[in-house]
Formats: sequence, structure tokens, C-alpha cells
Amino acid sequence: MPMFDFAPLLTPGLPPPAAKWNGFAKYNFIGGHNDADQVPVEALVKAANDVLKREGKDLATYGLASGPLGYRPLREFLAQKLKRSAGIACSADEILITSGSLQALDLVNGIFLARGDTVIIEQATYQGALTRLARLGVQAVGIPLDGEGMRMDALSAALDDLKRRGVRPKYIYTIPTVQNPTGTILSEARRHELLRLAETHGVPIFEDDCYSDLIWDGKRPPALHAMSKNGGVIHIGSFSKSIAPALRVGYIVAEWNLLARMLALKTDAGSGALEQMVLGEFCAAHFDAHVPRLTRGLRAKLETLMDALNEQFGTAAEFDDPKGGIFLWVKLPDQVDTLKLFPPALAAGVAINPGPEWSTDKAYGKSRTRLCFANASHEAIRAGIATLAEVCRAEFGVPNRIANVERARA
Ligand SMILES: Cc1ncc(COP(=O)(O)O)c(C=O)c1O
Repeated sequence: MPMFDFAPLLTPGLPPPAAKWNGFAKYNFIGGHNDADQVPVEALVKAANDVLKREGKDLATYGLASGPLGYRPLREFLAQKLKRSAGIACSADEILITSGSLQALDLVNGIFLARGDTVIIEQATYQGALTRLARLGVQAVGIPLDGEGMRMDALSAALDDLKRRGVRPKYIYTIPTVQNPTGTILSEARRHELLRLAETHGVPIFEDDCYSDLIWDGKRPPALHAMSKNGGVIHIGSFSKSIAPALRVGYIVAEWNLLARMLALKTDAGSGALEQMVLGEFCAAHFDAHVPRLTRGLRAKLETLMDALNEQFGTAAEFDDPKGGIFLWVKLPDQVDTLKLFPPALAAGVAINPGPEWSTDKAYGKSRTRLCFANASHEAIRAGIATLAEVCRAEFGVPNRIANVERARA
């Protein structure tokens, strides 16, 4: 049967088509997947059962009985949790529940950005933020990080430079609390400085705090949103990292005037109600006990990953111990190009995120890779890193000692 040709009808400027999914790699170090053994399945089942029995009839209306901002008990849980953990004083009416924090990124971008705009962003950052900016035709000015997060000297210089050129950036996007991919936490002193610089230059801050529950020692500075004196911070977060990414529940904290502009762009008539109801029910009773358990398990997996890298790569793999989260940002020797390492590694069953896709500066990212340690088992982490070392040596001649045994190049 002749196939209908849709191609000439497609709207111009579409992004490239998505790749077909062929299952996860045997050794899966990509994406932001979580630890399957740590999903609180039994408690979620009970929460679903309880909330549906009690409030299931509310599913008859769009937005439940809570209106377009999302399920009210979940927003109320968030308001008190954000106050307690991040110092944010907001009411449930200043929180918009979104379909993952990716939708939060889209909504914030949607109300601020037009082609040709400029934003400031960390030099190593979330790929999903970079691809969105590229698609929107927005220039991303990257600010280098060190062990304390975004460098304020570099930010100050970039803001001055833009001002000289008559450019007012639309926002400063930062992941200050367990940064993706570097795992750093922006110190409180730097938070003050960031807020001061942003205020001086009249630029809002876009704070993405989706990893902030996953800190090894549980200690975090207050959110930028909490510290701001002029209200110029939009804060987003997610349940993807603290509970489960497949639920697709995130949120935006902002004043009503901004949420009202975002709601006008939120075209899905409400994010999935069942997920919100189950989370609202689960979190009120179990969030505080669940998160430290999850974090302990993640820390153990990180230890396994760092041990495996030390054993298999020796000094050829450099990394700083992250403050929390699910990623390790690894620097391999300069001759390694992680974009070129990716295909043979995948063919050998190891999926890695190449550094250039997580950076505004492709040269900086070239020999770096981001490894997610949350999803693979301890055994898979060890076997996957051993395989990665073999592939890397075959392709780039490093590491030349594997498991402390000298190898000739293949
Ligand atoms: C920094 C950052 N922001 C946002 C997201 C989006 O997450 P989700 O849409 O699952 O909430 C991610 C996912 O990995 C992320 O790393």
C-alpha cells in the first residue's frame, strides 16, 4: 500500500526527529534515572488506595477540586517542606504543579525568551536546559564553576561585558544546590554575592533546585528564593529525584502575577491528577523518612563508582566527590573525546553522557563525561566501568594501566 507522504506538510524549523528507543544499555550511566530498589512501592500503593477511596470522585473535574495550580494538598505539603528545608516562605497559591520540572523550564522560558535573547548559565549544566535555549535561538553565556559552584568573579565580568555591549540578559539560570553535573553546592557567601550582582544588573535568577533533597549530610544553604530581598528569583523543583522520575511531577514557586502568565501558556489543562494525589498522600506521611534512606543508598553507589574508577582508570579519571545527587562529573585525559567514546562504549553495552552535551563550552566538555550512578546495581557499576576502561584504552590508549596492570595498546 502506498504510504501517505507527511514530509512536505511538516512545519519548518522542527527539531531533529527523536531516536527510536531500543531499551536501556546493559550498563546504564545516562540520564537522571533513580534507584529502582528505592522506589517506595508499598507506601505508594497504599497512598493511591487511600486517596482514591477518599477523593476519587474529584477526578470528574479538570483540576480536581483544586483549580489550575494543581492538587492543593500537594501544594500545601510543598509550602511547608520548602519553608522547613530551604527557608522559602510561600503559600500554596504561589506554587504551580507542572508535568515534571521540564515543563517548568518550558513555562519560564515561554514567558521570558524570544529569538536573539541572551541568558547566563553555568558552563557545565543540564543538557535539557541547553537544548531548549538552542531551539529557542537564545544565546547562553556560560560561567565557569569551581568547588563552590558558579564563580562570582566570572559572573561579574560577564555581566559587565554584556552591559558594555548593551545586552540585558533575561535571567541567570543556576542549579545551586547539588549542581548538575558537577555536584557542587553554591556556598551561602556566594549566594549573597549572586543576589547582589543580579540585583545590581536588574537580572532575575532562575533557580533549579531539583537535586536539593539528595545531600549526603542533609545540610544545605537557604534557597536563593528565600534569601532574595527584591523577589527576583523564580524557583523550580521536582519529585523526580526524591521519589521517581516517571511520575512526572515538578513545580514552580513564583509570585501570582508570574504564575498567571505561565498558566496562560500551560496548555495541558492540568498535569496528571493521579500522580499529584498519590504524591500528596505519600509525602505528607513518608517524605521525611524516605529521603535519608534513598540518599544513603545513593551514597553507597557513588562509593562503588569512585572505587571502580580508581581501580580501572587510576589517575586517568579525575573527579571531585560530589556533595549529593546522582551524578559524577569525570575528567578523562585530554586526548579522550567523549563524543567519540560514546558509540563504541554503547556498542560494548555502556551508556555514558558525553561532556560536550552538558556544557556551553565544547572544548571544556570534550574529555569530560557525566556518569549517573543511581540506576545501575553495584555489580553493574563495577562491570560497566571495567568495560568502559577497556573501550577507552582501545580507542584512545588510556588508561594504560587497568586494575593496576600495564596494558599494551590493542
Ligand atoms: C537540573 C535539572 N532540571 C530539570 C530536570 C528535569 O527533570 P523532571 O522533568 O523529571 O523534573 C532535570 C532532569 O534530570 C535536571 O537535571
